Amino acid sequence: MKGLATVLRQPESIPESRLPADVQRLARPRALGRAVELTFLRWEKRRLAPTERFWRDFGFHLVSVTPQRLLARGAGTAACVAIAQAGGEDRFVGPAFLMAGDTDLNRYVEQMGARWLPLDELPAGGRGVELFDPSGRSVWLLQDQRRVEPLPLREAVTPTSNTARETPRVNRTVRTPIEPARVVRLGHLVLQTVDFARMAEWYLRVLGLIPTDVQYLADGSPVLAFCRLDLGDQPADHHTLVIVGGIEEKYEHSAYEVLDLDALGQGQQVLRAQGHRHMWGIGRHLLGSQLFDYWFDPDGFEHEHYTDGDVFTADIETAYSPLEFGGIWAWGDDAPASMKPQKNLRTLLHLLKLVRRKAITPQRLKLMSAALDAPARPWL
Ligand SMILES: [Fe+2]
Repeated sequence: MKGLATVLRQPESIPESRLPADVQRLARPRALGRAVELTFLRWEKRRLAPTERFWRDFGFHLVSVTPQRLLARGAGTAACVAIAQAGGEDRFVGPAFLMAGDTDLNRYVEQMGARWLPLDELPAGGRGVELFDPSGRSVWLLQDQRRVEPLPLREAVTPTSNTARETPRVNRTVRTPIEPARVVRLGHLVLQTVDFARMAEWYLRVLGLIPTDVQYLADGSPVLAFCRLDLGDQPADHHTLVIVGGIEEKYEHSAYEVLDLDALGQGQQVLRAQGHRHMWGIGRHLLGSQLFDYWFDPDGFEHEHYTDGDVFTADIETAYSPLEFGGIWAWGDDAPASMKPQKNLRTLLHLLKLVRRKAITPQRLKLMSAALDAPARPWL
């Protein structure tokens, strides 16, 4: 029998200071300001009712529902985690980030052509500017957002989990309520882009993010970056924004923190019982370590519930690891094949167009495909 370590691998991470010469560092531009929270996401939906139903079952708290707009919050102190506006398309419009008090929003207006947002467009008050990322997606940078009182949550199960070492829970049972996994806050957003280097540079410069983990292709070029907020000595999530090099400009998924593993599990049962479309989970990610469960909203946009993710302070250096499909998860359900580009005529024509436009080289496509096609597990 082969050694387990040869069939079940976890790619090794190398700190930037010990990076071999054949791996390129991710460029770290000088930042214009500093984001301190991914505060909410904006959507456009042709039909709001199915989205409203999904949001409720997914564990958002609906603050206002009108024929034109849905506004939802979590149980945390952000006044808003998601807004959906009625419109002619089903699309992700863009993220809104809360910027540090010492960030000068005027710099974005002067240096990047941002525009001041009309105050009546801001769901939680304050002020803000809008600018567009290299793929044309609207990004809002906000300040002075109204905070709200947190909503009550049950006690977490985790501190009283019995283990083989300790049994803090004596003469008591685990009976968590059958209810949606109450979303506490918006945790992260993952965006796919064809021009990884340009997109990563743009977001690092605009938001002052710190790359926590960078993944590279076999030629040593970075292709994926898990970036965290720079909160100084306050711990920040392993990733708040992830930029993934791929073959499309698209919203990949957004993730919402829930209380604990039991909330994740009960939440899955509730979503299943209500007939929603499951995507992947429950499992544990490798980079970021969070326990995850992925769902499709009614229009096919991925939403992740997570709990128990890593947090890091600003002084921890960037780590690098080779991109391998199998390295996305540490254990749990097999990743669905739908996570990779479908191998069909449509994809092929799309790739030909990208190559002809010089948006991507055939060599890079080959390297990306090699990283995704390596068997993720011996049984896959
Ligand atoms: Fe995620």
